[in-house]
Amino acid sequence: MKTLDTLRTDAQLRTAHGVSWVVAQTGDHPSRLLHWPWRENPFPTYRRLRERGPVVPSRLPFLTATTRAAIEKILRSRDFGVRPHGDFNVAEQFNVMDLSFLQQDPPDHTRLRKMARPAFSPRRMEGYRVEIEKITEDLLDRALERGEFDLMRDFAQPLPIIVISGLLGVPERDQADFDRIGNVIGTALDGARSARQLRQIQKATAELDMLIERLMVERRADPREDVLSDLVAQHDDGRMSATELGAMFRLLLVAGFETTVNLIGNGVMALLRHRHEWERLVADPELAGGAVEEVLRYDSPVQLTGRWAHHDTEVEGVPISAGQQVMCLIGSANRDPGHFTEPDRFDITRANAAEHLSFSGGAHYCLGAPLARLEGVIALRALSRRVPGLRPTAMPTRRDTLTVRGLATFPVTTGER
Ligand code: HEM
Repeated sequence: MKTLDTLRTDAQLRTAHGVSWVVAQTGDHPSRLLHWPWRENPFPTYRRLRERGPVVPSRLPFLTATTRAAIEKILRSRDFGVRPHGDFNVAEQFNVMDLSFLQQDPPDHTRLRKMARPAFSPRRMEGYRVEIEKITEDLLDRALERGEFDLMRDFAQPLPIIVISGLLGVPERDQADFDRIGNVIGTALDGARSARQLRQIQKATAELDMLIERLMVERRADPREDVLSDLVAQHDDGRMSATELGAMFRLLLVAGFETTVNLIGNGVMALLRHRHEWERLVADPELAGGAVEEVLRYDSPVQLTGRWAHHDTEVEGVPISAGQQVMCLIGSANRDPGHFTEPDRFDITRANAAEHLSFSGGAHYCLGAPLARLEGVIALRALSRRVPGLRPTAMPTRRDTLTVRGLATFPVTTGER
């Protein structure tokens, strides 16, 4: 039986969702981005918003930054932070999980980010390369044996999950639990839409905390070359609390589960829909580096991020007052014709593709960007070398998410049978 509290939370969450839906029906473009059908293909809405200006108001209580120049400025500016200042509380549905320094401003952000940085050092990255190549080849061996497979289920999803589990130091015996927990926690990025989802996220978080605690004890007794061993050492030196360690582990897990999968999925979809670009990659797999940047620009796995103004300020001539929240549309910045010529064209040799904002900018610039790029390049290169005849066998289906943009299923064939 539901308790009164659960019913109240449920009503609040559903009302918040309902209000923005009603506002969306009145033609409020920023609100439309939160809802189906506009969410499915947000690019026409982005264009309309950019035409209205670099920073656009909404009937909901946030501003929307639309152009590359405005968004880059906000992400790099000290006038903005990821948390509101003062007594303002983030709405409950968006505050479902502590994701460590992703959600902190200096000085905590600076201190915690520094502790996670060694995991992504160039030396570690070189070590991961061989491992990622091996995982990629193994997954493809299995998929190709079947002839027809699901690109998401059989390749794009397992690849980054196996990589992040190894990097963090999750042993094989805990892998199945870890997968299940990671999939629930990943949904928290969009906030909760019902009390049921909120409960599931809380339950998964508690399970993960227990798993981490057990692994910490093991690593303390037997340290290895993995991120968990590094973090345990820093915790034991008194540089971070147990709560902070748990949150950091969660952040790396969510980042590993929810992002690169969509770089690969969105990438293969864009390439197969623009067959000429796929053929160019097949003819020269060394174009994979450029292809990854163009995919990130054209169909970014992370479409938006939020900031709060900490001071009265101005962006591209638009005044913004302290306390206002700004939704930064990364996906729109990447299609800004003021920066990218013919932005809706997909071109894997576009000269300035890497100037996308898909990894954000400023202090919160994605820490995992070198790893994501490495995984993306290895995946696209291997696919184009080994499966030149790759083609879809049915329409891909989309995940119903807002912040993260990606596919749920994508049935394909090697084209050889
Ligand atoms: C294509 C794949 C990826 C994309 C598009 C992506 C995108 C992003 C974006 C947009 C942010 C900043 C959000 C903001 O400014 O509010 C971010 C932060 C972060 N990402 Fe990634 N990410 C990817 C892969 C990864 C991977 C594989 C990892 C590591 C396992 C990772 C770890 C992080 C971390 C730790 C942060 C927090 C940085 C900070 O707040 O200082 N990311 N990522």
